[in-house]
This record gives sequence, structure tokens and C-alpha cells, in this order.
Amino acid sequence: MLSISKNPKTPPELDRKSSFYSTNSVIHHSLTLHHPRICLLLFIFSLQILLFFTIRSFPLSLRRHYFTSPSSTLQHQPGLPDDDHCGTDRIFVYELPTTFNHGIMQQCDDLNPWSSRCDALANDGFGPPFAGIEGIVPENLAPAWFRTDQFVSEIVFHNRILKHRCRTLEAETATAFYIPFYAGLALGKYLWSSDYSSKDRDRHCQMMLEWVQDQSYYTRSYGWDHFMTMGRITWDFRRSKDEDWGSSCIYMAGMRNITRLLIERNPWDYFDVGVPYPTGFHPRSDSDVLQWQEYVRNRNRTTLFCFAGATRGSIKNDFRGLLLSHCKNESDSCRVVDCGGSRCSNGTSAILETFLDSEFCLQPRGDSFTRRSIFDCMVAGSIPVFFWHRTAYYQYEWFLPGEPESYSVFIDRNELKNGSTSVRGVLETFSREEVRKMREKVIDYIPKLVYAKPQEGLETIKDAFDVAIDGVLRRFNEQEEWGFKWK
Ligand SMILES: *[C@@H]1O[C@H](CO)[C@@H](O)[C@H](O)[C@H]1NC(C)=O
Ligand SMILES: *[C@@H]1O[C@H](CO)[C@@H](O)[C@H](O)[C@H]1NC(C)=O
Ligand SMILES: *[C@@H]1O[C@H](CO)[C@@H](O)[C@H](O)[C@H]1NC(C)=O
Ligand SMILES: *[C@@H]1O[C@H](CO)[C@@H](O)[C@H](O)[C@H]1NC(C)=O
Ligand SMILES: *[C@@H]1O[C@H](CO)[C@@H](O)[C@H](O)[C@H]1NC(C)=O
Repeated sequence: MLSISKNPKTPPELDRKSSFYSTNSVIHHSLTLHHPRICLLLFIFSLQILLFFTIRSFPLSLRRHYFTSPSSTLQHQPGLPDDDHCGTDRIFVYELPTTFNHGIMQQCDDLNPWSSRCDALANDGFGPPFAGIEGIVPENLAPAWFRTDQFVSEIVFHNRILKHRCRTLEAETATAFYIPFYAGLALGKYLWSSDYSSKDRDRHCQMMLEWVQDQSYYTRSYGWDHFMTMGRITWDFRRSKDEDWGSSCIYMAGMRNITRLLIERNPWDYFDVGVPYPTGFHPRSDSDVLQWQEYVRNRNRTTLFCFAGATRGSIKNDFRGLLLSHCKNESDSCRVVDCGGSRCSNGTSAILETFLDSEFCLQPRGDSFTRRSIFDCMVAGSIPVFFWHRTAYYQYEWFLPGEPESYSVFIDRNELKNGSTSVRGVLETFSREEVRKMREKVIDYIPKLVYAKPQEGLETIKDAFDVAIDGVLRRFNEQEEWGFKWK
């Protein structure tokens, strides 16, 4: 099951966010561990879904008005600026000892076993400029593209939240507390090598929790109004046995009630929130966004579908291998980008160009359910094709349209396996008009899938960070309304 690389010099295959571990047993474990509490959580979860659907049945304008920030319409506090839309919401950012964030960045030479991460973490986490992008994107948008690593959300969220309009420096007035701990960056180095023990993998998280549990605002709320970003998939933090993969951070007692923003969540854990993987596009202004949307809308897409993934050896017999053969069989209408090794890990112009040229892109699960490629694909205005519900529909509810069929195609993988259908067969059933509508939906949602360049955010458009923070504040307000009161 678990393969900790014995030879740290060999990088794992590209989209390997972690070794394969039995997700189901992890879930089962947590169910039995927290049995009494799970009922409460399931209850909250179903309430959420109910609320979600109720809200969605209102017209958009009403929804905006009544639901986005309940407190801002109900109460206005004199003395607070009234144009910041914060209402009574105030975020306090802890000043953690720098060993938990900037100190980790300073060791960028030593954060994974193979190579320095200093380049990848440069430019406030966005990475080096995207050389080679000229000619693929409009000239004046090239500077908005970077070779961004997929695991940098901790840095991006930290920088942005320090500049957030609802940030307060007075903890007494805060309704939300942000813990700027670089959980994933701290862990990277210890994941792959057998030279390190489970204690090494847990150390930073343990120390952080000791620090946080000393804070009076944490003890006051049992952590319910606290949140943080964890820049890797949730399964990297859910080790239940010493010899298994990852750290046990999320299973530590102090983490129980803290909301976690993750690139892949456990759909059965209320406190896990899925947020988009960082992609290479970091618009500098509203105008960058609008121009990009127009650009991808007008692209001539010459290929029906495409598949970007590792195409070597070990995956030949899995589902990705099957998709690959579908693609190769339909070489008139499908294009493959070979991401063997780690060739696609920080984005390549070949991938971007392929997505820009394709009507649809295939998004099977990889070692985990999600992949950064979903976002690369959609940002390029290509329509994603999914084979597992957990790849996107159960992950990024705040960021994607509620009706999956409005922006994506779902194909039953068993029908592909037994040959009763083909990818091309399914995709060709959509009319031009249907495809246009789906693409328009994808394009509408691009702003919510990207992380803007300015630390203050964009002028009026809400990006992925804004949507995430609005969501957290809304959730903390709901928790209070539902009577989870600690004060
Ligand atoms: C989580 O919150 C509940 C109350 O909702 C509390 O009983 C429990 O002790 C909290 N857990 C931790 C670790 O603080
Ligand atoms: C797309 O193709 C059409 C017809 O072939 C052509 O007129 C148009 O200029 C092309 N658009 C772009 C952006 O290349
Ligand atoms: C690919 O094409 C060959 C020959 O037409 C066919 O036998 C094979 O089943 C096809 N494979 C897939 C996955 O469609
Ligand atoms: C990723 O970016 C780094 C620079 O940060 C570069 O050295 C490396 O070759 C890139 N990897 C790929 C596969 O392009
Ligand atoms: C293939 O699998 C699908 C879904 O499991 C099933 O409905 C269908 O009957 C199967 N077809 C054949 C030919 O086995």
C-alpha cells in the first residue's frame, strides 16, 4: 500500500501528491474514532446541504442581497467604515513564531529531498515568470503568468489575508482567527524519505497546536472560529498508524474544530474545505480577467478532447491507461500531453496550448481524487470531463456551479471499461450550442478559480481567495446562528 521512497533522488511521478493509501480505510477509521461526534457533524453537513439548495433556488440577485453576508445587511456598527462590506466580520491573523511560516520559507533549499524550492517559492509564492508563454497568450497578459507550483496556497493565503479589508489588529473585535502555519511546506521534506520518523512528520503541527492552545481566543471557542490553510491534499495529514504515509496533523486533538482550507478535502469532514489548486494565471487587475475571458471564448478549438497525464509504465493498466488508448485511437480528435516524470508539475506551455485548443479535457483521478489539471483546463476555457464525483463535485462547492452538467461532462467509467461507450461517442452527442453554453459557464467561473497577483486583490472581481474567505466568514456566522455558541 504504502511506499515511502527509499531513494530520495528519484522524484515520484508527476501528479503524485502522495503515495496511494486506502482512502476508505482512512475514512472508516475516522468514523469509528469519533463516533459520537460524527453524528453531530453529519447533522451539520446535511443542514449545510439543505441550506445550500434552499439558497440556490433563489434568483442570484436576491441571493447576493440576502445571503452573502447576513450580518452586513442586518447590523451596521457605527464607527466602522461602511463601504468595506465586512459588517461585523473581523479577521485576526495570529502572529505565530516565524518558525511556523517565514522560517520555513527561508529553508527553501531544504524543503524537499530532491531539489531546492527557492525558485518555486519566489515572487510571493507565485514562482518564476512563465518563460515561453509569449505567443500562446496575448502579449500584454504574459506578465500575469508564472510557473506556479501546486503546493503554495499557504503562502498565497497568508499574504492576502494580511491585506484583507476585514482584518483587525485587535483580537477582541475578531469573529474569525487565522493561523498562518505553513503545514504542507513544513511537511514536504519528511514525506518521502525513510530517514525520517513519524515524529518528524508530526513535529511542526504538534508545536503549532501547543502554541495555539495557549491562546485565550482558542480556548474560548474550542477552535470553532479558527481557520488555516493546508497546502497539500487532506490525506497527507491523516496518518492513523505510525508506519503509514503522511503526518497525523488533522487527527491531533487540537485540530478537531479548526476549519482547514485544502486543495483536496475529505468530503465527510465538515471542517475540511476544498479550495482551487493554484494555477499559473495571476491576473493583475479586473481588466486582465476580462481580457483573458474574451481570449479563451474566441479561441478556435481544433481538437475535440485532450488528455494530459503520465503515460509511462506503471499506469498502463489503470484507468488512465484506458483513457490514453481512447485518445490514441482517436488521434484526429484527441491530443495527448505526456506528463511523465515531473514534466507538467509547474505548468508547461505545451499543456496550456493543448487546453486552449481543446473543447474538452479528460480529468480522471490520479493517485488522489483531485488534480491541479482540472484548474489548468478550466482556466483555459476547456470543458472538464470527470469520471469520479469526488474529483470536483464533492470538493469545490463554493467555487464551481451547483449543477455539474452546466459546466462539465460526467462519463460512467464502467461503461468505458466494458467498451459499451467511448469518450468520443459521448462528447459527440453534444450540439454546438450545448458546448457553447457549457463553455460560457466555465468562462464565467474563471475568476473564482484563480489567485490574483495583487495582495490587495482585484478591484471589483472576487477571485478564489475572496470566495474562500467569504465562505469561511459565512460559515462562522451560520455556526453561531445554529447555536454553536461558546461565548
Ligand atoms: C470541539 O468542540 C466541542 C464543542 O463543540 C468541544 O466539546 C470539544 O472539546 C472541542 N474539541 C477540542 C479539541 O477543542
Ligand atoms: C478562427 O477561425 C475562423 C475561421 O476559420 C477565422 O475567421 C478566425 O479569425 C479565427 N479566429 C482566431 C482567433 O484565430
Ligand atoms: C482502438 O481501436 C482498435 C482498432 O479499431 C480497437 O480494437 C480497440 O478496441 C480500440 N480501443 C479503444 C480503447 O477504443
Ligand atoms: C519547474 O520550474 C523550475 C524553476 O523554478 C525549473 O528549474 C524546472 O525545470 C521546472 N520544471 C519543469 C518540469 O518545467
Ligand atoms: C457496461 O457497464 C454498464 C455500467 O456498469 C452497464 O450498464 C452495461 O450494461 C455494461 N454493458 C455491457 C455490454 O456489459
